[in-house]
Amino acid sequence: MIHLVDTKNGGTDLLNSIISDICVLLNDLIFSMIINPRFKFNIRKIDVIDHFSVYSNTSKKAIRITIETNNRPLLLGQLLYLPHNSLHGFYNFYYCGYLEGYLRHKYGSSYSKKFFIVIDVCETKNCFNETWEYLLLDEALDKGIISKTSDLYAVMRKYELNYILIGGSSISGPSVDMIDCLEKLYGNYSFKKVLDLFSGTGSLSKVCIVLGAEYAECVDANTSVISNNLGDKAKYCRILCENAFSYEPKKRFDLVILEPFYDQSLEVAERLLPKFAGRIKWFLFNISGKRYQCWCSLVCETIKRKANIIKIFEGKTSMIVFGNYE
Ligand SMILES: C[S@@+](CC[C@H](N)C(=O)[O-])C[C@H]1O[C@@H](n2cnc3c(N)ncnc32)[C@H](O)[C@@H]1O
Repeated sequence: MIHLVDTKNGGTDLLNSIISDICVLLNDLIFSMIINPRFKFNIRKIDVIDHFSVYSNTSKKAIRITIETNNRPLLLGQLLYLPHNSLHGFYNFYYCGYLEGYLRHKYGSSYSKKFFIVIDVCETKNCFNETWEYLLLDEALDKGIISKTSDLYAVMRKYELNYILIGGSSISGPSVDMIDCLEKLYGNYSFKKVLDLFSGTGSLSKVCIVLGAEYAECVDANTSVISNNLGDKAKYCRILCENAFSYEPKKRFDLVILEPFYDQSLEVAERLLPKFAGRIKWFLFNISGKRYQCWCSLVCETIKRKANIIKIFEGKTSMIVFGNYE
């Protein structure tokens, strides 16, 4: 239920119309960005406040949207694993920018001369704090996050994978494209010892073991579901809860699998790839969604300065690079 506290400023009709637009837009936007079924939010209040600028000594009205949620960091994008120079909490700017763009387009100067948007977020009592969350396959089916006719479901059944990793608006693991790549590569190569960095659910390690690896080392900042997901393959694996960027391999590996979040891939190419030269022969690196062509080219150029690219796999959704250091 929304309480409009002040309708005097700027004209009631315009304001009421803007407010009903905001409610619809913001609901759609947030639910399209956050698919976690536990996440809840509610627009508690929309009011109009005065905002004074010390830079111009002028005053403007701000439409303040007060949102109540059971996961503030998730709503604001504050706990994402980002490269060291990225901005945490940027979702707030994104929501405001999106709403303002729409309203400016719809209401023209009558809107933009009078108002701008402020989003104020508070937490409800029953909050949870995870940003990235593991869901059991059955729960993901139940909530409609994946369907039984999907490639992801097929591949998870094939390798008896139990968990998906969700964050934001997407499923971050396991990756159908990476599994497809590993199946192709194991047809021609024999990677016995595998290092699985940013291993998430540990699914890629499990796939490697099924395909012929003797040992896999899973490294991730959150290792909570890996051993459960590995099942009887856990005896061939070591699980390390560590920061992938500071991890130092203690043994020799044949292949390093790198599947960071897309935003991290440039940093991985710059900092992590060179670290393994002389110690690990092959790498398989999921660099980005293939729709991000420009970003993919940038990461590929960076890889080429440090290593050899043998093949670029264009998967259904991702761009994956297979290479070596020789
Ligand atoms: C795209 S997901 C990887 C999915 C995984 N390959 C799978 O099959 O489930 C990225 C993973 O990187 C992990 N991560 C991000 N930054 C990290 C860091 N600095 N150190 C260790 N793990 C990190 C996250 O916890 C997440 O599990």
